[in-house]
Amino acid sequence: MKRKPIVGISMKIYQNKIDDAVNYAKSVSNLERDEKQVDLFLLPSLGTIYPVSKALLENNSIIKFGAQNIAPIKNGAMTGEFSLESLIDMGGSYVELGHYERRTFLQENDEVINTKVQLAVQNNLIPILCIGEPQKEDSQNLEKTFTNMLNSDLANIDPQKLNNMLIAYEPYWAIGKEEAANADYVANVHHIIRKVLQNTLGNVSQNIRIIYGGSVSKNSAKEIANSEDVDGVFVGRFGHDPNNFKKIIEEVKKAQY
Ligand code: PGA
Repeated sequence: MKRKPIVGISMKIYQNKIDDAVNYAKSVSNLERDEKQVDLFLLPSLGTIYPVSKALLENNSIIKFGAQNIAPIKNGAMTGEFSLESLIDMGGSYVELGHYERRTFLQENDEVINTKVQLAVQNNLIPILCIGEPQKEDSQNLEKTFTNMLNSDLANIDPQKLNNMLIAYEPYWAIGKEEAANADYVANVHHIIRKVLQNTLGNVSQNIRIIYGGSVSKNSAKEIANSEDVDGVFVGRFGHDPNNFKKIIEEVKKAQY
């Protein structure tokens, strides 16, 4: 195994009540108290980040947390946005950027995403950069798509600063579905992404963890993770039950890559 596996979960805006979010965070923390082989992160719904952060810290949890978005500026006139200053103040580590839902429904473009990635790394937050293709493509087209996306999203950043970054490969067509993308397809795409990262960033690409997201469940996690360039999974709905989330983590650990 080349890189330590990592499993994360985003609550999007599925779980918005403080009690529910805190109970979830505590349950997962208790289930994962002794986990050493896998890094873990939780991205709560924005309105519950603060109480979740407190619960995780008070629990001495190994689970790191983060935000699903940040504003492209640190502070100032940007009504309704969320500043990374708050995330840092709460002790957050990760920031998810460029998710399909933000790119599509909120028209977030590569230029804005690049500004946010820059801001995150300047402030020692770890970006989780989401990339994906709208529909299945052959390898040649995939390489073009990811070359364009990564060149734009990571422009003007010192590659050394991206050592910790996560890339979340999330094919648009596999998000919110019954089943994840096929494991062979995912293995091929991760291989292509690693190649593109090598061309764009050089050797740092060997340290960057590339995780798969899009309808991952306890049934698909092991097969998907069972590939050299898949370094973990990014879970959505199928981890909303803490026991299922735990099962997904256990399945990833069984993968033989
Ligand atoms: P899903 O969400 O597993 O519910 O499809 C994954 C994601 O969008 O990150």
